[in-house]
Amino acid sequence: MIEVNNLCKTFKKINAVDNINFNVGDGEIIGLLGENGAGKTTTLRMLATMLKPSSGTAKINGKDIIKKAGEVRGEIGILFGGEVGLYDRLTARENIKYFAELNGMSKEKIEKSITYLIKKLDMEEYIDRRVGKFSKGMKQKVAIARSIVHEPSVMLFDEPTSGLDVTASRVVQNFILECKKNGCAIVFSSHTMQEVERICDKIVVIHKGKILETGTIEYFKEKYQKEDMEEIFMMLVGDENEK
Ligand SMILES: Nc1ncnc2c1ncn2[C@@H]1O[C@H](COP(=O)(O)OP(=O)(O)OP(=O)(O)O)[C@@H](O)[C@H]1O
Ligand SMILES: [Mg+2]
Repeated sequence: MIEVNNLCKTFKKINAVDNINFNVGDGEIIGLLGENGAGKTTTLRMLATMLKPSSGTAKINGKDIIKKAGEVRGEIGILFGGEVGLYDRLTARENIKYFAELNGMSKEKIEKSITYLIKKLDMEEYIDRRVGKFSKGMKQKVAIARSIVHEPSVMLFDEPTSGLDVTASRVVQNFILECKKNGCAIVFSSHTMQEVERICDKIVVIHKGKILETGTIEYFKEKYQKEDMEEIFMMLVGDENEK
C-alpha cells in the first residue's frame, strides 16, 4: 500500500507538487489526472525514489521513501514515458531477463514470470527478436514486462498507454487490472478519461501541484451532477484557471 503525506517538490520557484496527500490500498488503482505541467510525473518520480521531496514524504508498504529508499525500490515497479531505455541489441526476452537478474531473482522464478508476462501482454510473436526495430507499442510492452518482472506489490506507471493503439492500450489496461486482482497497489497518470473511467477505483485530480478533488467516479458524477467525466474535469480545472 501507499501513503502519501504532505508531499512537496519545489523547483527554483515553481511549486511543482504542493502538499499532496492520498492513499492507495492493496488491490486498488488510483488515476492521477491533470493538465500538462500539473505535477503528475514529479509526484510519481518522488514515489519511485528517483527524486527527493522538498518536504513531506510517503510510505510504500510502511517503508519511508526517503529513509528506506533502497528497500522501497525492490518493492516497486516503475514505468516512465518517453525513451524506455531498452537495449536495442538484446532480444525482448533478454532485456526482461537482464533486469530480473539485477533484481536477484532465481532462474526458475525468472522463467515462470517471463512466461506469464509474454502471455498476458501478448508478446509471443516477437519475444525472441532484437528490440532495436520494434514499434513504439512493442517496446512499451517489453518495458512494462521488464518493470514488473520482479513481481512488485506496488506499481507506478506514468502514462503507460500514451501513444499506443486501441488494441495495445487494452492489453496494457487489462494487464493492470490483472495486477490489481493479484493485490497490487497501483498509481498511474493518464490523459485519457475513458481509460481512467475504465480501470481506476479512485481519481486524484491535480492542478498546479495541488489536489483539487479525490474520489470514485460515482462520487464525481454525483457531486457535480454530470455524467461526462471530461466535462467534470474541465469544470474543475477551468474554475481554478479563472481564479
Ligand atoms: N527537473 C525539473 N526542473 C525544473 N522544473 C521542473 C522539473 N521537473 C518538472 N518541473 C516543473 O514542474 C511542474 C510539473 O511538471 P510535471 O512533469 O510533474 O507535470 P505533469 O503533470 O507530469 O505534466 P504532463 O502531463 O505534461 O506530463 C512543471 O511546471 C515543470 O516545468
Ligand atoms: Mg508527466
